[in-house]
Amino acid sequence: MKILVTGGLGFIGSNFIRHILFAEKNIRVVNLDLQTYAGNPENLKDIAGDERYFWVRADISDPVLVAQAMAGCDAVVHFAAESHVDRSILDPGPFLKTNVIGTQVLLDAARAEKVARFIHVSTDEVYGSIPGKHRSTEKDGLFPNSPYAASKAASDCLARAAFVTHQLPVITTRASNNFGPYQYPEKALPLMITNFLEGKPYPLYGDGLNIRDWLYVKDHAEAIAFLLQKGTPGEIYNIGGETSLKNKEMVARVREIMKIPASMVTRVPDRPGHDRRYALNDSKLRRLGFKFKYPFEEALAQTIEWYKAREDWWRPLKQTGGYAAYYQKQYKKGTVPFSRAS
Ligand code: NAD
Ligand code: DAU
Repeated sequence: MKILVTGGLGFIGSNFIRHILFAEKNIRVVNLDLQTYAGNPENLKDIAGDERYFWVRADISDPVLVAQAMAGCDAVVHFAAESHVDRSILDPGPFLKTNVIGTQVLLDAARAEKVARFIHVSTDEVYGSIPGKHRSTEKDGLFPNSPYAASKAASDCLARAAFVTHQLPVITTRASNNFGPYQYPEKALPLMITNFLEGKPYPLYGDGLNIRDWLYVKDHAEAIAFLLQKGTPGEIYNIGGETSLKNKEMVARVREIMKIPASMVTRVPDRPGHDRRYALNDSKLRRLGFKFKYPFEEALAQTIEWYKAREDWWRPLKQTGGYAAYYQKQYKKGTVPFSRAS
């Protein structure tokens, strides 16, 4: 079997490729990735010499290069996206081009190639902020609140349309907040861990009471590999970790493991339109027979150990001009005073 994976140099895509090459001996993987700021060949350095793996550097919104890369592929697993909510608030343009146009280009190419499966990797953010004790099911409506979430909801609708109109065998997955190795250090957890390792404070947005549902990236990779085999075309599957934590609670757990004082958390102005709560019901995936493997506490401790051991991976990323410029813009260091969190 030959599969086209998009976005395989990113956080989840690289974890998925490592998993599938290990789990399936007779698989070949073409990784279509533009290597944006979030794409990093170092994420797959350990498998770069595997003859079953090949990286094509191309933009998913380029129909000619996409068609070439997809030739002879049996299935597509589509991770490539602009993925950071804060960046989408600063500039939504790249989100529309990659997440919306890029997805349509891939769907068209997959139809021309007559692939047997197309896994469209999406997010719980398309459901919007979830009140009370409800957990989103796949039947719930789409109420995206950030430009990122809106672009992902649009891509979900395009994936659905390709199934209904053209019978392209698309499966859409919606996952909750991932954490684990190789996550770009602009996202909350790697930012928190690496800032603490650098002796810098972690900027907590607003009152810190927003709730996220945490999913270990290795469970996510395994769930996608499972759905590639067992999922039904036209269906949507939630993939959640069922570990709901307030942001304040997550910081407290990380501080406890790393032995960091509370004074190293600073309150900063809230993210505009910050969704209060995400929570997924993933019983549909569990009913199909999928079992999550990694207990949250162990996975969190291992993740912290990984960032401690892999300064060679994250320090160069934080030292690039692009990262520093983004950090200054996002946190307006020097203009918005940080206040100590209680
Ligand atoms: P990431 O930002 O770490 O990686 C994105 C990858 O896509 C990078 O390698 C980048 O180079 C590539 N890419 C971006 N634009 C491209 C383009 N135009 N053409 C080709 N390649 C391009 O993202 P991630 O966190 O690994 O997320 C992967 C997917 O999973 C995304 O679709 C995201 O919406 C979804 N998702 C992420 C999470 C999460 O918590 N990170 C949760 C649920 C769903
Ligand atoms: O829910 C799935 C989504 O999870 C994915 O679709 C996105 O691609 C992924 O980036 C992630 O989105 P979030 O916005 O939830 O993740 P982020 O890591 O940016 O933030 C997690 C929480 O932490 C959120 O409530 C905002 C808060 N936060 C984040 C940052 C970067 C802070 O308090 N301070 C910060 O500096």
